[in-house]
Amino acid sequence: MTAINEVTDYALEDGVGVITLNSPPVNALSFNVRDGLAGGMAMALADEGAKAVVIVCEGRTFIAGADITEFGGAQRGASLYDVQDAIEGSAKPVVAAIHGTALGGGLEVALACHYRVAVPSARCGLPEVNLGLLPGAGGTQRLPRIVGPEKAMEMMTSGQHVPAKSCLEMGLVDELVEEGDLRAGAIAFANKIVVEQRPLKKVRELNDKVEAARGHPEIFENFRKANARRFRGFLAPEYNIRCVEAAVNEPFEEGLKTERKLFGELMSGSQSAAQRYAFFAERQAAKVPDVPDDTAVIPVNKVGIIGAGTMGGGIAMNFMNAGIPVTIVEVQQDALDRGLATIRRNYERSRTAVPAETEARMSRLTGALDLSALADCDLVIEAVFERIDIKKEVFTKLDAICKPGAILATNTSGLNIDEIASVTKRPDAVIGLHFFSPANVMKLLEIVRADHTSKEVINTCMKLARRIGKIAVLVGVCPGFVGNRILGARQREANKLIMEGAMPWDIDRVLYDFGFPMGPFAMSDLAGLDIGWVKERSNGETIRDVLCEMDRRGQKTGAGWYDYDENRNAKPSPVTEKILHDFIVKSGANPRAISDDEILERCLYPMVNEGAKILEEGKAIRPSDIDVVWENGYGWPVYEGGPMWWGDKVGLTKVLDKMKEFQGAMGDAFKPSPLLEKLVGEGKKFQDLR
Ligand code: CAA
Repeated sequence: MTAINEVTDYALEDGVGVITLNSPPVNALSFNVRDGLAGGMAMALADEGAKAVVIVCEGRTFIAGADITEFGGAQRGASLYDVQDAIEGSAKPVVAAIHGTALGGGLEVALACHYRVAVPSARCGLPEVNLGLLPGAGGTQRLPRIVGPEKAMEMMTSGQHVPAKSCLEMGLVDELVEEGDLRAGAIAFANKIVVEQRPLKKVRELNDKVEAARGHPEIFENFRKANARRFRGFLAPEYNIRCVEAAVNEPFEEGLKTERKLFGELMSGSQSAAQRYAFFAERQAAKVPDVPDDTAVIPVNKVGIIGAGTMGGGIAMNFMNAGIPVTIVEVQQDALDRGLATIRRNYERSRTAVPAETEARMSRLTGALDLSALADCDLVIEAVFERIDIKKEVFTKLDAICKPGAILATNTSGLNIDEIASVTKRPDAVIGLHFFSPANVMKLLEIVRADHTSKEVINTCMKLARRIGKIAVLVGVCPGFVGNRILGARQREANKLIMEGAMPWDIDRVLYDFGFPMGPFAMSDLAGLDIGWVKERSNGETIRDVLCEMDRRGQKTGAGWYDYDENRNAKPSPVTEKILHDFIVKSGANPRAISDDEILERCLYPMVNEGAKILEEGKAIRPSDIDVVWENGYGWPVYEGGPMWWGDKVGLTKVLDKMKEFQGAMGDAFKPSPLLEKLVGEGKKFQDLR
């Protein structure tokens, strides 16, 4: 074994030169790895005993892509293109031996090899699109030459990690080798192919699939149309498609030039900067400064859930999916039956439903009518009606029933968890687990730390979140926590704007165009205006009262803020317009024209300001945690980075100036946060607080 550098070894084994990379955690293509590959190739070519070359990785994965931390810095060491040229131009066949994930630049290295073998658990993908990029090392030109343009576009625009078996079927992998025996399997494969006919096959020379698509522009147009909703607002999917078009219509070298040009444009743009920031923000959120990673974890092998409604059922599914048994408690038998049936139906309706899998998951679920059934649970989550007195009653009972050491969690979306914890004799075991609806789908989990929550309980919940596939963000107790508190700031402004002359559809349009999936009024129509509305107490005092009294209770009644046709298509409503007009006149004001810019600033700047207040109160650990909450729970477009990142992008001076201007005109709801003032005074950004 010869060390090429600190992350690369070379050895001659069974007549094959084996280059081994070992650069934890994910063998990303840092300059060291590139240099190691270049040095390893030179050594293998010079080694007379080596008839073929294998590239294999130590640790949990094959190369998982370019080293994202190097982006934007000066190029050091061998370039990836030089490394690929050395591999592809090698007179000795080169075999990539894949385990874990071959992603991005990692798959592009493998595509420059003459052959690829993988263990069955391996996955391959080009996930650059998720970073607002495209594969910039020939991947856009080589992948379509193996799998054809349609499959290539699907892989590149979804970023999916394709299982090895499917890769084998597509020709992306040449052979599967036994799990756990990759190195030996790859060497055996290399010895097998070394006698095959020359010249060696190069992916760049495989032209039949791209030629077959030439003269068929409809392939691309249909793909664009079919995915228009998924791609809305994002630049990278379109750029990826253009590269595949180039692979079809241009010679390989020209296609490479197109790829490099478009890659450069994306890399220098703000969307990719935001998406790369989001990648690291998500991982950063998992780290809690005063709760080190090695803090004890309480084993969670059985979960109890109180409430079999939409929320409780959705929460249960997360644990059942992860193989953890769940006991769900309801008060009435019929409500319990309905809840269990809904869970089963959700599984059966899911796109990936396999009957045996549904049964396996359902077998982990037990229904009960008495809280005593939760006595041996390691974690209990209550998802009952959102009222502090009811929650306190439930926690008093849980405290008496649950075994010592059990974690007692509330799914409240904003109530005071310290108050809830105070009714128990074990406030250290009490924590908030705020799931988002639908809880089996939404990625975000706000984990709410109360005054006395222990570090073990926090660490357990952070780790458990990962186990059930959630993105967890630790927040502090305050009304609405991080997500709903900032939503409140936006909603307050939206409600004020319609009282000044803006129409609900104007506000929805501006926010939709910004990149949100839906504006607040369309959302309200979808959810139902009558949530929390009590007919008997309604007296026409608010616009909502009037709409509900007219049976305009949202989509379900065919009208709400909007009018709906039989296919639930929304139209601006003259009825709503008249109601608003009358309200404004009654208040003694005159409706005025409000520009789109004002709508955006009035809705979004207070969100940035509220985020600053949350930070100065210590209710979020870092600005990026707030962004993770808003991107994963509230539809803030990832290419706009989240409210704090966006505030930095707009410029905090501008945000502060506008807040002051609004405060002067409209009062203290716009009072700037002292932190915002301080940052502006010091010429800093939220990013500087990291
Ligand atoms: N560059 C630098 N660091 C990376 C990285 C990369 N490409 N991929 C992962 N990491 C880091 C993470 O930041 C994390 O660091 P910390 O522990 O300090 O937080 C660590 O590696 C482990 O990552 P995960 O927590 O995500 O581990 P996982 O096992 O859950 O997932 C993974 C592993 C599937 C590889 C996932 O990390 C991932 O998807 N990585 C990104 C892959 C990617 O996008 N590759 C394309 C890069 S762009 C490119 O290649 C452009 C080109 O064409 C040349």
